[in-house]
Amino acid sequence: MEEKFSIAIDGPAGAGKSTIAKKVARTLEFVYVDTGAMYRAMALYMLRQGYTAAEARRDPQAYEAKASAACQDAKISIEYRDGEQVVLLNGENVNSLIRTEEVSEMASVTSAIPAVRTKLVELQQELAMAQDVVMDGRDIGTVVLPKAQVKVYLTASVEVRAKRRYIENVQKQKAGKDVPAADLDPDKISREIADRDYRDMHREISPLKQAEDAALVDSSDMTIDEVAETILNLYASKKGRPQVITAKTAGFCFGVQKAVDAVYGEALRAARDSSAGPINTFGPIIHNEEVVRDLQDKGVGVIETEEEIDAQQGGTIVIRSHGVPKRLYDKISGSGAKCVDTTCTFVKRIHEIVQKESLAGKKIIIIGNHGHAEVEGTKGWSLTPAAVIETAEEARSLSLDPGTPVCVVAQTTFNGEKFEELVAILQKKSYNVSMNNTICNATRERQSEAREIARRADIMIVIGGKSSSNTAKLYEICKKECNRTCFIQTAADLDLKLDGSERLIGITAGASTPNKIIEEVQKDVRRTDF
Ligand code: F3S
Repeated sequence: MEEKFSIAIDGPAGAGKSTIAKKVARTLEFVYVDTGAMYRAMALYMLRQGYTAAEARRDPQAYEAKASAACQDAKISIEYRDGEQVVLLNGENVNSLIRTEEVSEMASVTSAIPAVRTKLVELQQELAMAQDVVMDGRDIGTVVLPKAQVKVYLTASVEVRAKRRYIENVQKQKAGKDVPAADLDPDKISREIADRDYRDMHREISPLKQAEDAALVDSSDMTIDEVAETILNLYASKKGRPQVITAKTAGFCFGVQKAVDAVYGEALRAARDSSAGPINTFGPIIHNEEVVRDLQDKGVGVIETEEEIDAQQGGTIVIRSHGVPKRLYDKISGSGAKCVDTTCTFVKRIHEIVQKESLAGKKIIIIGNHGHAEVEGTKGWSLTPAAVIETAEEARSLSLDPGTPVCVVAQTTFNGEKFEELVAILQKKSYNVSMNNTICNATRERQSEAREIARRADIMIVIGGKSSSNTAKLYEICKKECNRTCFIQTAADLDLKLDGSERLIGITAGASTPNKIIEEVQKDVRRTDF
């Protein structure tokens, strides 16, 4: 029988073990063994045997004797049915029965009994022998699965864990849940976490400690995705597979996120208020058909022309993050429909520069792509005709009177290196040039991270819509550094041919690529065989 693969994740409370374990299991299609749920199922079994937590506390010795014998007849396992994790107690799905207060209380007394722990360890080991698993807890690598092929000790500083817990509690309270005042006191939370660490590390049975062969992962300054990627790469090393690195900057930038959130917010408002009227975005909100379709299902349409603005009766018109020419902005604002302007602040800044400098008599030159929505919008804020320059040839052939006052701005997502090249050409001309490198920070960071990863990668994958110009630029940048760079829209386009020599596969994505698509690509890359 083929040997099954186990990933053991141990660490102190609040380090994010279960979130990470679930994510890793999802990516690899392993079974995530929720050991806490198994202890709960055992507690339910004890309750059904007629014991109560109060009785157990009244006479702990008698309860230990009874529970030690009774637990031998409990068969607890974990399966996936229709994508959902199911906890089985003697064959019965007990998912809906193990999250009650009564079960929680019983679980805390029952889990302290050595015979119960031994029984559950046996059951957990059986699960790991039958399937590939990711298991998290406090003694998985040391006691439950000492032979796990990948062992991780996941930790974070007390301060960071306390902050995470505090934020969680504040969010619960905002969602209308009852949160005791003590759980909103950061100092008290810190003290509790430190005490709990001490107890877990000094308890008699299976104390919390790092297995000698476990990799230490300190998540204090890491995101969930970064921690999961680190563990997935430990797995890849064991399997002799290439490492996969996803750019931190891949996917929605803050401007796109803000615009998409605003449209979903409008859709929700309209769903609650039947008098809200139609909602339309002026142009698709992002270059992603799936998101546009999803919004369409929620009643958000797309309009593209001035006639359609005129025809709209009330409701809402959303200006997307690219912005629109001033004439259209005024038309939408005065149309009688509510105008939701999600023009990115970086784009707005360019509009202001262009308006001010053209008013001062300067010739506006936009370094960007002809016909791109943002460039068209920017042109429309200049009081005099603006010129667009995209190539070195266009820059060379620009002909203005010597001494002409010129104001240069850039499309926010333009390729930084190319911008410098075109600027150098313009500066050789005898114009009076004021230069504004308006490429946005998000783009700069995305491009430089993509370049850095592509330099090291054997294969580079760039994900984004075919009509997304910022993704096209990312592809251009990566292709220069890595010959095996591919441009895909979704995981369905991925045609990875590995010959076994690859050590590193890099992934990046354009500003309008949803996370879901990036995750699907990551999954497929990790599963591709030689
Ligand atoms: Fe704004 Fe830059 Fe994104 S201009 S929309 S933050 S790519």
